[in-house]
Amino acid sequence: MLTENHGLTFSPLIVGCMRLGVWGAGMSTKEYERFIDECLELGINDFDHADIYGHYTTEAEFGAVLKRRPDLRQKVQITTKCGIKLITPNRPNHKIKSYDASAKHIMASAEQSLKDLGIECIDLLLIHRPDYLLHPEEVAQAFEQLKKEGKARYFGVSNFTPSQFELLNAYTPLVTNQIEASLLHLDPFDDGTLDQCMLHKIRPTAWSPLGGGAVFTDTKDERATRIRDKAKELAERHKAELDQIMLAWLMKHPSGIIPVLGTSKSSRVASAVKAKAIDLTHEEWYELWQASTGVEIP
Ligand SMILES: NC(=O)c1ccc[n+]([C@@H]2O[C@H](COP(=O)([O-])OP(=O)(O)OC[C@H]3O[C@@H](n4cnc5c(N)ncnc54)[C@H](OP(=O)(O)O)[C@@H]3O)[C@@H](O)[C@H]2O)c1
Repeated sequence: MLTENHGLTFSPLIVGCMRLGVWGAGMSTKEYERFIDECLELGINDFDHADIYGHYTTEAEFGAVLKRRPDLRQKVQITTKCGIKLITPNRPNHKIKSYDASAKHIMASAEQSLKDLGIECIDLLLIHRPDYLLHPEEVAQAFEQLKKEGKARYFGVSNFTPSQFELLNAYTPLVTNQIEASLLHLDPFDDGTLDQCMLHKIRPTAWSPLGGGAVFTDTKDERATRIRDKAKELAERHKAELDQIMLAWLMKHPSGIIPVLGTSKSSRVASAVKAKAIDLTHEEWYELWQASTGVEIP
């Protein structure tokens, strides 16, 4: 009998940290602290990082809060990712944007994340993007070593195709595939990604669950407009909000998708928490599907 997520428990929603620092809200330490506290009060304790966020600066900003408030470390669960090499003055040795899932890079990146976050152990480490040169046995060995040294507890991937996932999972147990999934990005519903998660009893985690915010801002895009109009109609029917309908739609899928929220506002996290209680009917789910594709299903 498989244990769900190999024993790792996620909170009902995950808070993404990509837009909290210089790539978005530009929070001060005090603002990060307040935001983290407010998320915890809402029952959300999972925070999603990557080494690259804020051009390699956001982990350290989050770490500054943990340093100020050591009590928070026991309360939060931290995911971070490695394997993308960005060109930035913060990494002058990167000559070209590339992916690197070599054992050497995984180990070095994990060590740096531990240092920046100021923690002893990463709760979940993901390979951010599939490196074409990835050798599964080598990655498995790196994960094994990190686990043995108490530097990371669980491992997973992000943006892996089903066959890429299957290959690596044959060498090391992966607890999630963090994928782009939303009403604006339907691929995983059809390409086998979600089926595979169900088969392996792991919860998919979904980045850009609100399409990166396009439905709220993009008034020219026909598809975003169709989705917004339909979601608003359903929101009225369910006495709910637009974001809640979009998240409820995602969470209705039987694979148990966990949205990775991108907001920097705790009021929007609070709104998202309420999406759990919205039970769209089967037909309403397809109304939104149709709004997204623009055509009736075959
Ligand atoms: N694995 C990967 O390759 C990958 C790639 C991209 C992202 N991620 C992760 O996924 C997380 C979420 O991605 P995302 O930021 O694209 O997610 P998202 O939730 O789809 O989009 C967030 C954006 O939408 C805006 N927004 C949210 N609710 C809104 C509302 N009710 N009204 C108006 N605007 C609203 C937010 O602005 P406000 O801040 O003003 O609310 C923010 O700019 C990231 O933080 C990161 O952790 C992972």
